[in-house]
Amino acid sequence: MANTSLNILPDEPIGTINPNIYGHFIEHLGRCVDEGIWVGPDSQIPNEAGIRADVTEALAAIDFPLVRWPGGCFADAYDWRDGIGPAEQRPRRRNIWWGKEEDNQFGTDEFMWFCRMTGAEAYICGNVGSGSPREMMEWVEYCNYDGDTELTRQRAENGHPEPYNVIYWGVGNENYGCGGRMEPEQYACLYRLFECYLRPRGSDMKLIACGLDHDWNHRLLNTLGSADKLDLLSIHHYYSAGHSTDFTEQEYYELMVKALKLEDRVVRDTHLIRYFEGDGPGRVGLAIDEWGAWHPDATEPGLYQESTLRDALSATILFDVFNRHADSVHMTNIAQTMNVLHCLIQTAEEKMWTTPTYHAYDLYRPHMGGAAVRTALECEMLQLEQSGESLPLVSASASRKDNEIFITLTNLHLSDTAEVSISVGESELAAVAARKLAADAPNATNSAQEPGRVDLSAHDVASDDGTISCDLPPASCVAITAKLS
Ligand code: AHR
Repeated sequence: MANTSLNILPDEPIGTINPNIYGHFIEHLGRCVDEGIWVGPDSQIPNEAGIRADVTEALAAIDFPLVRWPGGCFADAYDWRDGIGPAEQRPRRRNIWWGKEEDNQFGTDEFMWFCRMTGAEAYICGNVGSGSPREMMEWVEYCNYDGDTELTRQRAENGHPEPYNVIYWGVGNENYGCGGRMEPEQYACLYRLFECYLRPRGSDMKLIACGLDHDWNHRLLNTLGSADKLDLLSIHHYYSAGHSTDFTEQEYYELMVKALKLEDRVVRDTHLIRYFEGDGPGRVGLAIDEWGAWHPDATEPGLYQESTLRDALSATILFDVFNRHADSVHMTNIAQTMNVLHCLIQTAEEKMWTTPTYHAYDLYRPHMGGAAVRTALECEMLQLEQSGESLPLVSASASRKDNEIFITLTNLHLSDTAEVSISVGESELAAVAARKLAADAPNATNSAQEPGRVDLSAHDVASDDGTISCDLPPASCVAITAKLS
C-alpha cells in the first residue's frame, strides 16, 4: 500500500493530552477485582495487604494514570459502608448484576491502596440509582475531609488519618439503564440534587455526569440549563463484530469501523457541550469512561473473552482519535483492566500474563502530557462489502514535547504493507527510535503457556532530507520518536 503520507503540523496544537486519556476501569464483576486484583493477605499468591504484587507491578510499568471503581452497574447497587472497617465485620451481600456474592474485603481503603501501589489517581463512581445524596456526601467526607468528625475518625481507625483527596466522582453510572432506568430529565434533577450536597461551597472535586446518545445528552443539558454544574460528561462505547478469536476478514474490518464510530460521537457531543457552556474556552470535557471490544463470547456472569491483536489495534486507532480530540476528551477508561472484556491483564490463579492491548498502552505512553498537534493523512480507503461503510486503512496521531515529536501509526490492512512518508512542512524531522506492535496473525493472543507471543519490538525507520520513511507491516502499530530541527 504505497503513497501513504502523513504531514505533521507541529505549530498547530490541539491541546494537552491529558494522561487520563489512557485511564482504566475495574468493577466487582467476574474475576476483575476478586482474583485479578484482590487475593487477600493470606493468599499464597505474592501480595501486599491482599493486592496482587505481579499485577500492580505490571500496571505501574505502563504509567497507569487513573482508575475508575467500583462499577459499572455494580456502582448503583453498592453501599460504600459495607467495604470499610474490620474485615471480619464486613457484610456479605448479593451482587445483583453480576451473579455473585461480595464479601466486601476490597472496599474504599483497599481501592485507595491499589491506587497507591499502581501510581493511579482514583475515580469513584457513586450510587444514584439505589443510593441517596446523603450516602454519597458521607463517602466524600470519609475520603476527602480533613477535619475531626465521626467519619474522619473512622478513616483514621482504618489506618488513614490523612484525607485521600479523591478528585473524580461519577454521579451514577448508566442511569438510563442499570443505574435506575431513568429519563434524562429525571436524571438531570437528581444530578442537580447530588451536586448540591457533594460540593456545597465549591471544591476541587470534578463531577462526572452520566451521558448516553446525542438525544439524552441534549435533554440532560437542556434540563440543567447550562453546563456549569458538571466537569465531565460520560459516554460509553462498546463494539463487536464476530467471535473474539474466530473472526472473518470482513469482521476484522467491521470491528474497526464500529470502533471509529466513536469519533462522530465525540465531535457531536463536544459541539453540544460547547453550546451549553456559552462563550469561553471550553472547560467541560468528555469522559469515555467505559469503552472497548465486547465480543459475543463474553457471556454473563463473568464477561470473559480472549484478547487479540485485532482488539489491540482497535484500541490504537481509538487512542489516535482521543489524541486528535485532546481539547475535549479529558479521560477514557477501557473496560476492564483485569480478566473482563477488553482487558490488559489475564490471570489463572498464580499465573499472570499481559494481553496485546497492554502492549498498546505501553507503546502510546510517550503521548501522555504532550501537546497533540494537527496532522494531515492521505491513505487508501477500504469499502466494506456488507455494510458499504468505508474505512481508512491507516490511522495516525502526533504529539510534541519541546523539539521531540512522537508519532503513532496503525496499518489496518491485513495483507499489504503501508509505505508511509512523514514530513513536517518547512521544518526537518529525523527519527530517533521506533517500536512496533505486531504478531503472526490478527487473532494472536498471549496466554499462560505463551505469554510473549504478542509483544513490542524495535522497528527500522529511515530519515532522509528531513523526511521519515517507514514501512508498516500488515496489521501493526508503529510508534516513532523523532527530533524536529
Ligand atoms: O463493563 C461491563 C458493564 O457494561 C458495566 O457494568 C456497565 O456500566 C456497562 O453496561
